[in-house]
Amino acid sequence: MIIKNVCVVGIGVMGGGLAQICAQAGYDTAIVSRSEASLERGLKSIQRGLEIFVKRGRITEDGVATLMSALRAKATTSLEEGAKDADFVIEAVYEDLELKKQLFGELDRICPEHTILATNTSTFPIIALAMATRRPDKVIGTHFMNPPPLIHGVEIIKSLMTAEETVKQTDEFVRSLGKEPIEVKDSPGFVVSRMICLVMNEAVRMYEEGVASVEDIDKISHLCFNWPMGPFQLLDLIGIDIVAAVLRAMYVETGSERFKPALRMVQLERAGWTGRKAGKGFYDYSS
Ligand SMILES: NC(=O)c1ccc[n+]([C@@H]2O[C@H](COP(=O)([O-])OP(=O)(O)OC[C@H]3O[C@@H](n4cnc5c(N)ncnc54)[C@H](O)[C@@H]3O)[C@@H](O)[C@H]2O)c1
Repeated sequence: MIIKNVCVVGIGVMGGGLAQICAQAGYDTAIVSRSEASLERGLKSIQRGLEIFVKRGRITEDGVATLMSALRAKATTSLEEGAKDADFVIEAVYEDLELKKQLFGELDRICPEHTILATNTSTFPIIALAMATRRPDKVIGTHFMNPPPLIHGVEIIKSLMTAEETVKQTDEFVRSLGKEPIEVKDSPGFVVSRMICLVMNEAVRMYEEGVASVEDIDKISHLCFNWPMGPFQLLDLIGIDIVAAVLRAMYVETGSERFKPALRMVQLERAGWTGRKAGKGFYDYSS
């Protein structure tokens, strides 16, 4: 199967970057979102990201204009319209298992038989999404990192029912985007979310216990570990709601207390202060 048409479903923090890298790699890329307003927000965010690349000399103004008009031409609120001729679909909607299962059922009905259905989930069992379709052999996890245009590693998650051919084609597709695929088992949180969410959860608990301030825990991470970003900066970048959802999913799957989201994270989520995308999280981005 030759992959030519790609469909990205959801155009939030991840979907926008995914659509951008697919279009830049030469794929005919359709974007699907729930509303005109979210499509417009997502497209503007892609444009802003590309303008940074213009300043760094990695793309020309003309290149941005061409890319944006190609993406706009295939941006739609109709899943039917966006997915009907896709060879490869990447689902990047909210981290909500029921929503994703329903979407996979619809994609299975809409897409041609050969289409590979990939999910960008940070934690949900790939097999649960595969079983929502009649093509479990063509369902796979492609866990891209945030922001997709900048981070090279991609976890490839194969369920018990994913066919080797699907893994091979996904591997080639991910490489064609300039990324490095790394295969992992279908286990709660895979490798990335399991490791990093525990670090972020523990950082929030230390802050709650008064061990150190948000700023100082981030400073320690910079100065002592040489990390480019501290756990609170990362929480705000990823989205506190997303991290809490990932922790909850691992908690449900494993029953282990260490995955129970820290109280302060839950409170910020309830207040709608979910990080950069909301203008406020552990830090304030309003000015
Ligand atoms: N944020 C991160 O750092 C990160 C990193 C790796 C993986 N992920 C995963 O990627 C996925 C998306 O996360 P995000 O941070 O981009 O979320 P987000 O909240 O920023 O965006 C979700 C998008 O999905 C859209 N959407 C919701 N329901 C839809 C539907 N039925 N049809 C079409 N669009 C719909 C929303 O309008 C929104 O644009 C999640 O599974 C998340 O776990 C996130």
